[in-house]
Amino acid sequence: MDREQAIDEAHAALTDGALDDAAALKRVVELLFEAHPTWSWVGVYLLVGDKLILGPYVGPDTEHTEIPVGTGVCGSAVETGRNLVVGNVKQVGNYLACSPGTQSEMVVLIKDDGDIVGELDIDSDDLDAFAPEDLDAIRPLADLAGPHCRRLAAALS
Ligand code: SME
Repeated sequence: MDREQAIDEAHAALTDGALDDAAALKRVVELLFEAHPTWSWVGVYLLVGDKLILGPYVGPDTEHTEIPVGTGVCGSAVETGRNLVVGNVKQVGNYLACSPGTQSEMVVLIKDDGDIVGELDIDSDDLDAFAPEDLDAIRPLADLAGPHCRRLAAALS
């Protein structure tokens, strides 16, 4: 599957109402993973209070199923309110390793009505795997994922 098709199908999964919230997000991470052979882990974290709780993901299991805001790349994105692209995770002081092979990471915040409700977290075993175009392609999906994440996070709080 090429990237454009993956983005189109992910858009449909988030908007056509055929899937419940968790299934729609799972489909999105599956599509992104499938379309990017250099991406080794793609997942959603839900913001519940002051913690990020692991939601749907594709890739190796991670011990980081709960991440406090302010911790790691994921928690720093929420704390600063900024998407983060890290070309070399070894240069990040409070990086939380998911897999030993991970070298770069991108976190795209998911917002609903301006509130951060979660994030898309993507790892790669390549250095500098994420280009500005990747962020541009993912951002609209993150916006569409907002209501889904808000409902799932509310159910966990
Ligand atoms: N690397 C992340 C933790 C999440 S796992 O990679 C899936 C971080 O530093 O926050």
